[in-house]
Amino acid sequence: MCGIIGYTGPLEASKILLEGLAGLEYRGYDSAGIALCMEDSKICLAKKTGKVKNLKDYCNQQITDSSHCGIGHTRWATHGGVTDTNAHPHQAGKVILIHNGIIENYHALTEEFHLENELISQTDSEVAARVLNRLYEGDPLAAIRKLIELLDGSFSFCIMFEDQPGAIYAIRNVSPLVAASTPSGSLIASDLTALIPYTRNYFVVPEQHIVKLTPYKVHLYQLDDTFTKTYPEMMTVNWNMDAAMKNGFPHFMLKEIHEQPDAMGNTILPRINKGLPDFSEDKIPDSIFETCSQVQIIACGTAMHAGMVARAIMQPVLRIPITVSVASEFRYEEPLIDEKSLVIIISQSGETIDTLAALRLAHQCKSTTLAVVNVKGSTIARESDYVFYTHAGPEIAVASTKAYSVQLAALYMIGCRMALVKGKYTKEQAVSFLGDLLDAIPAMETMIAQKESIGNAASHIIHSPDAFFIGRGLDYAFSLEGALKLKEISYIHSEAYAAGELKHGTIALISDQVPVIAIATQQHVYSKTISNIREVKARGAFIILLAKESAVVDDHLADICIRIPDVDDLFTVFPIAVVLQLIAYYASLKKHLDVDQPRNLAKSVTVE
Ligand code: M6R
Repeated sequence: MCGIIGYTGPLEASKILLEGLAGLEYRGYDSAGIALCMEDSKICLAKKTGKVKNLKDYCNQQITDSSHCGIGHTRWATHGGVTDTNAHPHQAGKVILIHNGIIENYHALTEEFHLENELISQTDSEVAARVLNRLYEGDPLAAIRKLIELLDGSFSFCIMFEDQPGAIYAIRNVSPLVAASTPSGSLIASDLTALIPYTRNYFVVPEQHIVKLTPYKVHLYQLDDTFTKTYPEMMTVNWNMDAAMKNGFPHFMLKEIHEQPDAMGNTILPRINKGLPDFSEDKIPDSIFETCSQVQIIACGTAMHAGMVARAIMQPVLRIPITVSVASEFRYEEPLIDEKSLVIIISQSGETIDTLAALRLAHQCKSTTLAVVNVKGSTIARESDYVFYTHAGPEIAVASTKAYSVQLAALYMIGCRMALVKGKYTKEQAVSFLGDLLDAIPAMETMIAQKESIGNAASHIIHSPDAFFIGRGLDYAFSLEGALKLKEISYIHSEAYAAGELKHGTIALISDQVPVIAIATQQHVYSKTISNIREVKARGAFIILLAKESAVVDDHLADICIRIPDVDDLFTVFPIAVVLQLIAYYASLKKHLDVDQPRNLAKSVTVE
């Protein structure tokens, strides 16, 4: 949450900061601001509520002098409302600071440093800036170290000192930061999208280190007594700028829906060897599958829904307990996991703070951890024992689409390998399973090609305040994601229900024309689901049925029937996911909402 960028170098800083912020906007879009160190060493601050475009228009009118060093921020409000004053950067004396994260003890610090009458915003971040200003006696490294010793919480900071022109300092605890020294100058940001126009080589800022950027050098110092200089581990970006552009699509979400077949291929194909799943390149040993007596899956949101599908696929085959937990709950429980547990952590960003905390708890319990992560070098990837990288490329729309599909692909492959290693699958069964997984890719393409007719179906739900998604077994797991997708971008209250559970209360909410999106792709419960659909139909619901091509459907059952290709029952999630994503996309579009940046949300949830 919150986007951070810093630049110092020969180019015009305001241009780089504003372009960088536009690319980082998906991290938070309540307000934005920049601070520039001007030629006369004076600081120029510009802050505006709303989108980065507002800030850009304001800067174009107000900033006439050039600057070669500055910091910028897009905000997702945590403390204090959405106002120009609460927007970052915050200036306190000689200190100018931007922050991503939460300072949990800001109240205690306010009292300890008697800041009550100085604060002009309601933010925890300004408290950090004012405390740093009090600690600053001309030595930035020493002051930053003292500040860090006082703080509780998660943070990444970029800081300028008025008397240190051309230099930017940064430090992080949990919240991510990447940095690079390039021929165009030195850059630091909360994620790679801001660096890619200038370089493919970067490093992830390690915790417990201070970074200092000067126009042509980036220095890294340990937080020890003497600030020992150290050298970062350099990494290379494996995607290009095109991947982070809309490329002719009206929205990132639609583009990312279209990218799913390729992303699936990129994730699956390099890991197939002689028809079998092979993780030797990932350095994931079979021993972790051999020895585990239970699997604990932990994630948030869409990633957690991928885990629910994986559990439904794996448990009947592996015949060991598989539990799925919401990370924000798991981290405060006393979990029943131990050294014989395999803990699978799923996260697109690799930075979700609750998921990270759950990973750390799993390590305390001595469990083996395997992370399914999309962002290379992210904190979860670095801290897990083993990593299975999905190759979705950057996902910019806040609503997750391609990241979900490739998380599923990864989990299906992991389940297949585990079944093979544990002797639950023969080689032939594993080969056939992977063949079915590959068949799901053209099935997704078939559904993408039907986007207009799926869009027409979405027209029937946009006037309703509520919608229900129902299904049984795997179809119920898919429903959870369908409901999340619809509610987050169309603001239609959507609930997923196990179809057989409706009668136990929820059916009271079904009345004339309430949309019910019914998923019926699982043969062994098909007739039961159809009975449940009849029950809601009898109460006036508007039925959008998602069924296989060959399924026999009574003419009068559904108001709209969307057919998916006849893939094996275990793999219907892939074409179904596309349909559910498109329903949500078109519902949002037809309601004239902001598809890619829905209200109150941000892409990467780095606060609790
Ligand atoms: O980056 P992560 O996969 O850890 O994010 C977890 C959730 O915040 C995320 O899946 C969220 O639910 C989706 N953006 C919703 O579409």
